[in-house]
Amino acid sequence: MSRLLIIGCGGVASVAIHKCCQNSAVFDDIVIASRTKSKCDALKEKLEGTTATKISTARVDADNVDELVALIEGYRPDAVLNLALPYQDLTVMDACLKTGAHYIDTANYEPEDTDDPAWRAVYEKRCREAGFTAYFDYSWQWAYQEKFKEAGIMALLGTGFDPGVTSVFSAYALKHYFDEIHTIDILDCNGGDHGYPFATNFNPEINLREVSANGSYWENGHWVETKPMEIKRVYNFPQVGEKDMYLLHHEEIESLAKNIPGVKRIRFFMTFGQSYLTHMKCLENVGMLSTSPVMFNGQEIVPIQFLKALLPDPASLGPRTVGKTNIGCIFTGVKDGKEKTVYIYNVCDHQECYREVGSQAVSYTTGVPAMIGAMMVVTGAWKGAGVFNVEEFDPDPYMEALNRWGLPWVVDENPQTVE
Ligand SMILES: NC(=O)c1ccc[n+]([C@@H]2O[C@H](COP(=O)([O-])OP(=O)(O)OC[C@H]3O[C@@H](n4cnc5c(N)ncnc54)[C@H](OP(=O)(O)O)[C@@H]3O)[C@@H](O)[C@H]2O)c1
Repeated sequence: MSRLLIIGCGGVASVAIHKCCQNSAVFDDIVIASRTKSKCDALKEKLEGTTATKISTARVDADNVDELVALIEGYRPDAVLNLALPYQDLTVMDACLKTGAHYIDTANYEPEDTDDPAWRAVYEKRCREAGFTAYFDYSWQWAYQEKFKEAGIMALLGTGFDPGVTSVFSAYALKHYFDEIHTIDILDCNGGDHGYPFATNFNPEINLREVSANGSYWENGHWVETKPMEIKRVYNFPQVGEKDMYLLHHEEIESLAKNIPGVKRIRFFMTFGQSYLTHMKCLENVGMLSTSPVMFNGQEIVPIQFLKALLPDPASLGPRTVGKTNIGCIFTGVKDGKEKTVYIYNVCDHQECYREVGSQAVSYTTGVPAMIGAMMVVTGAWKGAGVFNVEEFDPDPYMEALNRWGLPWVVDENPQTVE
């Protein structure tokens, strides 16, 4: 029995909340708190009567530590599941530190204002020293290690699908299939079709920033950076078929490079259709992906936020999206002196997700592991004081929970590899 405070009520949070309500034996009491309380109330109304979980709602501005502290002190949760945006990670962590609640999220910190001079100075130093230019990295949250340790509480970072399940797949492969892992290729394929000329499957700001940035991969102890979409491969995904995929920078590369001993290369590929890429390039060329404010008719607007207002709400794609996702990792390495290759992946059907929880598979594949990560923390299946990435714990209970809660996985010991 546990009390969970969930911050945010968007696409991912909606799935995680449905799953907590299916799992009332663990989550008997939850609070949904977000910027727009009406969304929390609507979800509460939908779920009440279908679950034994007690649901309350609240309004909170998660950029404001004092508001968060008051909310946590009023409710006294065992843990806080942060499913707002990466912009709020540090304020929610600060509030957890002040109140002694465990912290869980699905995406690492990224600033909302990338023109902020104080942030930029740290960022530019990191670009020079680490060698990758993504706006997000783990340094900000790993810096809380000692404070969380001293407070005797846990921060569990990155329990979505990627990062999250892909990181647990890596720990599982190392535990059961390899003495040493040499390469990891993380493949994220969305074979779904929503019928719109252009839409993003999750928060457009976060999604478009990620995709329009330089790519990078980890090789022989350092980062190798590429131009956006510079490296393309074609892969025949089980249950989806052949797709173009492109190398991107992705946050779990950074933590896996640290936590998988002896790994020589880690790459991340995501599938994109030509129409998506053409739309994105055009929006980028005209300045619509910019996060810097501009004046328009006497009012300051941020182009990418304006674009977000025009694009379909990712939460509305559920009923229209057909097809499947396939996300997983191909590992090469050695076991008992012999070289081997193992592919661990999950296939998820957009329409099945929609029938179950009213969301498409991209939110589903993130929301389910968010609930599972919270379950690992509140049940004590994963214990520790400090800041942790998911691959640092025993993967077995998490892998069992994936099978049980809607994301069954497959191990293929003779897969197609990526050149
Ligand atoms: N690891 C993975 O595999 C993975 C995959 C996809 C997404 N993610 C992460 O999951 C998180 C949620 O994504 P999403 O697609 O669900 O986004 P979303 O649909 O845009 O939802 C974000 C939610 O956060 C709320 N919010 C934003 N700023 C807030 C603030 N200052 N105070 C309180 N609430 C605030 C929003 O409130 P409003 O309703 O008022 O806008 C909304 O309910 C993001 O961090 C994203 O990066 C991780």
